[in-house]
Amino acid sequence: MTRHFLRDDDLDPAEQAEVLALAARMKAEPFAHRPLDGPRTVAMVFDRPTLRTQVSFAAGIAELGGNPMTVDGGLAAMGQREGVEDVARVLGRQASAVVWRTAHQSDLVTMSLHAGVPVVNALTDEFHPCQLLADLQTVQEHVGTLAGVRVAFVGDGACNMGSSWVLAGATAGMHVTVGAPRGYLPDAGVVEHARDIASSTGGAVELTHDPVEAVTGAAVVVTDSWVSMGREEESIDRLRAFPPYGVTPDLLSHADPAAIVMHCLPAYRGKEIAAEVIDGPQSVVWDEAENRRHAQKAILAWLLERA
Ligand code: NVA
Repeated sequence: MTRHFLRDDDLDPAEQAEVLALAARMKAEPFAHRPLDGPRTVAMVFDRPTLRTQVSFAAGIAELGGNPMTVDGGLAAMGQREGVEDVARVLGRQASAVVWRTAHQSDLVTMSLHAGVPVVNALTDEFHPCQLLADLQTVQEHVGTLAGVRVAFVGDGACNMGSSWVLAGATAGMHVTVGAPRGYLPDAGVVEHARDIASSTGGAVELTHDPVEAVTGAAVVVTDSWVSMGREEESIDRLRAFPPYGVTPDLLSHADPAAIVMHCLPAYRGKEIAAEVIDGPQSVVWDEAENRRHAQKAILAWLLERA
């Protein structure tokens, strides 16, 4: 059966650990695994702006022996020129896997039902699971383990990164606390499902409106932009609600003194993260950006072996 990676909980705890172990091996020996030798093509479709995702997938697919084919979502105009179903059927005849950044998770599901090849979520409004694989790899490198590690996600808990952190963190047995203003906590259904997962992994998911409470004692402090792609028209309200949740030196002083600070980027210095924090010694953001390549190679190789 063709497997897909559409949201973080598409991998069960054992599978997530397997993919992360593969990512570590890919990082140690970047040219040793060539499941795309041929070269086989992977289609990367971008309906939204991208930097890290495009370059890390392109470099990673090449390192796997494959051919990264970028499809301009604007030219393809899915949903206008033709439906997602027909595009999926066409891409599946040319490519061994499809990587897609788009707005709606439901469209990604439709793609996965019709492509006939593995489909990977390269960010939707709801989830950003590739970033979470890279982030978990980064935590393993810096903290040494995942199970039991305390994570604080502060800022827009309702964005894709908030949902992905609660799901992937729970899968890894981490203790994730989201600190967000009223109206910006993660989706209740996602939280409930993450808590179900956590009950079997020893993890936990907590929600609070108090940023200090969220961060207190955390070994990992995570934030993300306050205005995600597609939310630009809400900027004024968001820039009013979020300042208490900015990762400043003062907020960070409540975390474990050895805490690492994470951000998927792009970052807005002076808003969700202070310049002295993102550019300071506790920041691991460039490792996260690098690990996108290793982690995405691992999930592609893992999916292709099962296709
Ligand atoms: N939450 C952000 C992540 C960017 C990689 C967004 O969706 O814009």
